[in-house]
Amino acid sequence: MSPRPIIIDCDPGQDDAVALFLAMSSPDELELIGITAVAGNVPLRLTERNARVMCDVADRRDIPVFAGAEKPLIREAISAEYIHGETGIDGMDIFDPETPLQSQHAVAYLLDTLGAAAPSSITLVPTGPLTNIAAAIVADPQIIESIDEIVLMGGAMREGGNRTPSAEFNILADPHAADIVFSCGRPLTVMGLDVSHKVLSTPERVGRIGDLGNAVAEATAGMLSFFHRYDTEKYDSPGTPLHDPCTVAYLLRPELFKLKLCNIAIETESELTMGHTAVDFWHVTERPHNANWAFDIDADGFYKLLTERLARF
Ligand code: RIB
Ligand code: CA
Repeated sequence: MSPRPIIIDCDPGQDDAVALFLAMSSPDELELIGITAVAGNVPLRLTERNARVMCDVADRRDIPVFAGAEKPLIREAISAEYIHGETGIDGMDIFDPETPLQSQHAVAYLLDTLGAAAPSSITLVPTGPLTNIAAAIVADPQIIESIDEIVLMGGAMREGGNRTPSAEFNILADPHAADIVFSCGRPLTVMGLDVSHKVLSTPERVGRIGDLGNAVAEATAGMLSFFHRYDTEKYDSPGTPLHDPCTVAYLLRPELFKLKLCNIAIETESELTMGHTAVDFWHVTERPHNANWAFDIDADGFYKLLTERLARF
């Protein structure tokens, strides 16, 4: 069976970086045809640079990397240096990457690639604010037909918000973009805080990754050791949630997850609840079931998969 073509749209971010590594570790199952960067955790000039750093670390300088939106569709940009550090990937030795930045804008790349692709042939894996994806859909709604599935990290239901009481960062950062993506009509699988808060990068788990003894594992262990300091204090937990790799893990081993098809709507009006994902888990409305909401995960199975795959580098 040929590998599944995917595009990862990201804002590295330590957890985005691990999602990139997990995808790169599995070329027999996933063909990472392109990486598009978006402003999010840190500004675009850093998220695109960080994505290229990961290509170098994984010795995958062949993967084209594109820079996209510097700010959300309508709102002012927010960022998360207080979690990720000023570089966005604090915790690893950072360098100027050899992997080149493509001259084409990420949205133009998405339009060209999806525009030329067969129906339902490419899976999009957004792990940051949804600005690039939404901008492409608005520019040419026909590209939707080429999207096989969108597997994104964002939102929250039982866990509540992590940036406001009501909203998770990726959705809050660009709620208007999220509304466009959640309304696009293609199969949508949503990895929110309700699953990512169950995959905590405890010292034991990070230690096993650090013991693998290759450059990717070393970078991963260093980044996770930095990344967890804020969340462990905030949540009084033994490790930080490993948000973004849940998307790629789902593509590789969907049986690790429990999901429910339901309606998810995005708050784009109220400042109090801006970016809230209203997950109709109990089907109490007549709203269309537009998303597969992940609500449970086999955490040990997730870390077994991650550790085994990082050992391949
Ligand atoms: O809320 C968690 C999400 O926000 C993750 O994607 C993290 O990288 C940040 O972008
Ligand atoms: Ca991210």
